Amino acid sequence: MKRFALLLAASGLMAAAPLPKIVAQPNGRHVFLVDGAPFVMLGGQANNSSNYPAMLPKVWPVLHALHANTLEMPVAWEQVEPVEGRFDFSFVDTLIREARENRVRLVLLWFGTWKNTSPNYAPAWVKMDNARFPRMRTADGKAHGVLSPHSRSTLEADKRAFVALMTHLRDADPDNQVIMVQVENEIGSYGLARDHSPEAERLFRGPVPAALAKLKGRGGTWSEVYGDFAEQAFASWHMARYADEIAAAGKAVKALPMYCNSAMGSPFDAKSASTTPSGGPQWNMIDLWKAAAPHIDLVAPDIYNHDAREVTQILSYYDRPDNALFVPELGNAPDQARYLWGILGRGAIGVAPFGTDATGYANYPLGAKALDAATLEAFASKYAVFADISRQWARIAAAGPSWGVAKGADAADRSTAFGRWRANVSFEQWEFGERDWTWIKSEPHPTKGQPVGGAVVAQLGPDEFLVAGSDARVRFSLASPAAGESGAIVRVEEGTYDESGRWVMARVWNGDQTDYGLNFTHQPVLLRVKMGVWRG
Ligand code: DGJ
Repeated sequence: MKRFALLLAASGLMAAAPLPKIVAQPNGRHVFLVDGAPFVMLGGQANNSSNYPAMLPKVWPVLHALHANTLEMPVAWEQVEPVEGRFDFSFVDTLIREARENRVRLVLLWFGTWKNTSPNYAPAWVKMDNARFPRMRTADGKAHGVLSPHSRSTLEADKRAFVALMTHLRDADPDNQVIMVQVENEIGSYGLARDHSPEAERLFRGPVPAALAKLKGRGGTWSEVYGDFAEQAFASWHMARYADEIAAAGKAVKALPMYCNSAMGSPFDAKSASTTPSGGPQWNMIDLWKAAAPHIDLVAPDIYNHDAREVTQILSYYDRPDNALFVPELGNAPDQARYLWGILGRGAIGVAPFGTDATGYANYPLGAKALDAATLEAFASKYAVFADISRQWARIAAAGPSWGVAKGADAADRSTAFGRWRANVSFEQWEFGERDWTWIKSEPHPTKGQPVGGAVVAQLGPDEFLVAGSDARVRFSLASPAAGESGAIVRVEEGTYDESGRWVMARVWNGDQTDYGLNFTHQPVLLRVKMGVWRG
């Protein structure tokens, strides 16, 4: 049957499903086309060792509870090629079949040469044979745990397995249940900035490649061109080229979008970030990675930070006209759920909290102590707003402008301009009344000091907005009103979009629901807001 479908597709009698792709927009945003239409990935990433059929019953219910539309799942080199040259894709087949039944798309994570930098997911025949698959060397010649990116035999072996995976996807997944593939996982090395093998030493003493000389506007040795960051740049170039060669070979078989993720060092301290780890697409090496890895569609941050300033800074690094914003891992603690507003508001093509299955393994202190009902709800309540309108939201966010914000440690207001309007988001306020009321006493708001709150605002027309949020108050005002001008709410509708993209109103907000701004409670809703100006 599958072969018949392939034959029909090849003969042109049946159109093959269009491949997912990421398309840059003239405004610097991106749109992720899945089945030929805009799609925003509301994902969840399974725990590392959930990549076996027996675990899947513990995965799907959590994905559904989250209102997620995509599962990110590891596919380990050790599991698909336990014996050299003998491939077993039975898990991939089960995964695709069950994903289809569960109406959830897939992003496969290729755990190959590097998984959180280490070779633990390489098959035993690779990781135990360090003559054929050498590990990096320290300056005094000792072995470091990480596999060297300068080894052709390691690259060829990894590439062969990855191409086998992509060949299997081409043949076994003609409908593209799998929409994207991650190449390796958190590439780089900790505790050693670069390999010191004889070959690495030789290359390090030589000039930077022409592409980097062009990028930096000067040639010379790594130290001359990159100064204090020479070792990081050297490792990044060679690891990025390695990943790129694997991606290129895989894409030649099935051209799915491919990306590499990075563990995040401090977003405010390049020197400390340069070693956490060294070699991956760290925020200070994005330009280099772009030059080195043209077959990697995007580089992406894994965000486990709890601090809103850091998260905002990281997002601003990876949100570039030449790099679609995508957050493949977000910490799954309740306080981190508010970052969904900032991520989706910026027009990200997708996001996935990490560890979203019921296998019971906790990710604290990076993420949640337990994936209990309240934790799940923190993410699910926000996903629920976007789940039904994911195609529509993807269209709106790609067209822009849109904006998203999460409460910071200072709980200060955040605001931005949309044409003649200013949108202001404030926190820790009762739904009724104003902060500066002195004529009546009120208790502090229950969210005071709590890491909750955020909102998204998308501009649909000069005076029209789509707004959603939780634990926040949103207000629009004229940015610079002329004499006698006043901005006013014309109409606020709560509702959603139906599948055809038509707005369906549930009710109109007015009176107490608009007199003190648009107050979003803990339960997010979607509003369509029309503003206007009256004169007098
Ligand atoms: C980041 C890695 O990419 C994941 O595979 C996992 O190890 C998480 N860290 C755990 O927080």
